[in-house]
Amino acid sequence: MRFLVVNGPNLNLLGTREPEVYGSTTLSELEAGLVDWGESQGIEVECEQSNDETTIVDLIQTYDGDGIVLNPAAFSHTSRAIADAIQSVVTPVVEVHISNIRAREPWRRHSVVSETATRTIYGRGLQGYRAAVRHLANRLAVDFETVRYGPHQDNVGDLRHGGEDLVVLVHGGLWLQEHERDGTESLAVDVAKRGHDSWNLEYRRLGSGGGWPASGHDVLTALDSISRLETSAARVVLVSHSAGSQLAAWAASRSRTQIDLHIALAPILDLGATIENGDVGADQARALVEAGAPEMTSLGEIPTVIVHGDTDQVVPVQRSVRLADQLGLTHHRTGCGHFSLIDPASDEWAWAVDRMRMS
Ligand code: DQA
Repeated sequence: MRFLVVNGPNLNLLGTREPEVYGSTTLSELEAGLVDWGESQGIEVECEQSNDETTIVDLIQTYDGDGIVLNPAAFSHTSRAIADAIQSVVTPVVEVHISNIRAREPWRRHSVVSETATRTIYGRGLQGYRAAVRHLANRLAVDFETVRYGPHQDNVGDLRHGGEDLVVLVHGGLWLQEHERDGTESLAVDVAKRGHDSWNLEYRRLGSGGGWPASGHDVLTALDSISRLETSAARVVLVSHSAGSQLAAWAASRSRTQIDLHIALAPILDLGATIENGDVGADQARALVEAGAPEMTSLGEIPTVIVHGDTDQVVPVQRSVRLADQLGLTHHRTGCGHFSLIDPASDEWAWAVDRMRMS
């Protein structure tokens, strides 16, 4: 696979331009990092930067690779020419913004480029570029259909067909709007390649109409609508990561759909402890609890296993150790960090997949 990363106006100044917003990494460091990382993933990454709208339109029109990652910078907010160019070609274009444009000045919140781009990834710093490349690769890896389960634009999930069980994935990201379902997309693709159907869910998040109870209700509505999905899977396995586990567990214990197994990866389930200890995500957890979310999420009767790494810098492994002890759950404790768990190449994911076979 071959992808082009295009950076628009003023991004040649990365590293010195408003470092408090865009960071201190230079454009050439960003580009070299992307090329090297791409190589490690078997993906060829090419890079271009231009301050000129015409050049960007020409690049979109003429690129003959598999997809484009585009940070249109300030052109995002005005350029109908770039939006039209994207609509005029079959090449998928994923838009990236380093900063969270939806939480900045009012004029920056809308991007006309988003109207035609395949996906917009924003507010995740420079990591957003890798996420965009990975998303493009995942789109090409296994066909999918985006299936709606409710009226809001985020009430969707990507359904991939593989066969045996149905694996429903609930991504994490501290309930924040900038973290979307591409977080668990590589697992969804892997599951389909291993011979299962997968449904990778989106839900409303804080900043995009979510919070409590909306985010929980979205996941519950999705689980309840499984009988209407085009799937012949015999069993339903829920896979959740981080804060997504709070939504998944809450919804699974209330759903009319029988969940045969819940695999919770580095879960946040104890919002009370998250707040009390000032963990990453404490502010969001507090917002949820103040809106009525339970401090401790009950797992109900759903068979649950936890996978959590000792070196997790986001969710302390002690949260899972305590929970597993209290509830007598299987806890696979490993040496890995928070995000290794959602890498399909990891040993931890292989262990999780084995649990699906055994349950
Ligand atoms: C940007 C956001 C734009 O609003 C701004 O004009 C940029 C950079 C970003 O990456 O966050 O130049 O696209």
